[in-house]
Amino acid sequence: MKSKIKLSKDQIISKIDERIYGSFVEQLGRAVYGGIYEPGHPTADDQGFRQDVLELVRELNVPIIRYPGGNFVSGYHWEDGTGPKELRPRRLELAWAAEEPNEIGIDEFQEWCKRANSQVMMAVNLGTGTPEEAGNEVEYCNLDTNTCYAEKRRKNGFKEPFKFPVWCLGNEMDGEWQICHKTAEEYARIATETAKIMKWTDPSIELVACGSSGIGMPTWGTWERTVLRETYKYIDFLSLHSYYENHADDTPAFLGKSLEMERFITKTIEICDEIKAELQSDKTINLSFDEWNVWFHSMGQDAKLPRWGSAQHRLEDVYNLEDALVVGCLMITLLKHSDRVRMACLAQLVNVIAPIMTEDGGPAWRQTIFFPFRDASNLGRGTALKTGVECGTYAAGGNDAIPYVESVAVLSEDENALHIFAVNRSLTDPMELSLDLNGFEGFRPVEHRVLTGEDLKAVNTATNPENVSETTVPVGEKIILPAKSWNVVTLKK
Ligand code: AHR
Repeated sequence: MKSKIKLSKDQIISKIDERIYGSFVEQLGRAVYGGIYEPGHPTADDQGFRQDVLELVRELNVPIIRYPGGNFVSGYHWEDGTGPKELRPRRLELAWAAEEPNEIGIDEFQEWCKRANSQVMMAVNLGTGTPEEAGNEVEYCNLDTNTCYAEKRRKNGFKEPFKFPVWCLGNEMDGEWQICHKTAEEYARIATETAKIMKWTDPSIELVACGSSGIGMPTWGTWERTVLRETYKYIDFLSLHSYYENHADDTPAFLGKSLEMERFITKTIEICDEIKAELQSDKTINLSFDEWNVWFHSMGQDAKLPRWGSAQHRLEDVYNLEDALVVGCLMITLLKHSDRVRMACLAQLVNVIAPIMTEDGGPAWRQTIFFPFRDASNLGRGTALKTGVECGTYAAGGNDAIPYVESVAVLSEDENALHIFAVNRSLTDPMELSLDLNGFEGFRPVEHRVLTGEDLKAVNTATNPENVSETTVPVGEKIILPAKSWNVVTLKK
């Protein structure tokens, strides 16, 4: 098969906000305990953080990490995770039916993030929590005043404020599974009053209000309108969450799931702009797609887990090659909308639906989905450009026209490198790619990275960690995107 990508230097989508390569660590399963933190592990550092995990996180180059949840945050009182560890309560954690030891909290997580070269995106509890508690949290983390909570932080050993720049007003409050789930009206009220207190405490912070936890939610649309109308003045972002699955084992349809993400994004932008017009506001609300990934492999086994475990193997999806191709398409879709999707978080980072897996006391390794995310995060810094793709399409899963090639390009900040990210969705046919370049005189292909393989269900494990790995193929006269592949073609002057 043949395809063509037309690239023009002036066909700009946007300068990319690097926070589109964010991720997420929830106090859940083995994300924290046994993931980022395992005192006694051979690689543990002075604070019990696993160095092998930190190295892989740094390889992913994640600029911002959402914490501590997720569903977890809706029952979490942040003070439980601060101060002397021996005084911290061990609590029932209702979101995931676990025992929470509170060995790790804000105090430790901010330090771990520094070691990961990342910033914290903090979520506040709008389930069982109050606006006042959220304001106190901002004071504890961000202020240098001589007042109670800033003073507590100093007493706990942190002279300088942590200065977290972005805060989420709760999590998935539209979902009945959420602790203290709310109607749109109820959420809009508490989010507004909380936002006021938080911004009065630190006007420099940016706030994310909860949008819908999926376009399939029965309240989708009305939820966004109600929340935006009331919170508009105080917020900067509206969140979107979405996970994709292949329960039916229908690979062609699964590979087309990014079209659903695309629809979710474009429809949500329309609503944001509709409310902007209605309120006659000059401010534009951007999107924070702060939970996205493939999630379904572990659901059956999780249903059998006993209640009240600690650091259980929960949400531990083992990802295969086809999942990596879907993640590649989803990442490309986010970049195609990087003018409005300014932040996004691959959910999650370690062990829990994650690109990095660990064994307790054993190794850490890269799952298949690690590769497309690592490539995009490291190479996709600069300006996103539209790729006019000419290729065939196929029908699957209710979609009449899924293009065989999904693609976006990024021009590096110094304008010397052009990276074309492309997935070939064909299961059988390699795709010969021709480039029609406008404004890129002197650019020629210098590198072609590929993630592919015969077996779409191939996975990486502790004993075979490089079973599915990216390779670099020679760049010749022709650019060939192999069947079922993720590709990065780099052109340089
Ligand atoms: O990421 C796992 C869970 O998915 C999060 O806790 C929740 O926000 C979402 O439903």
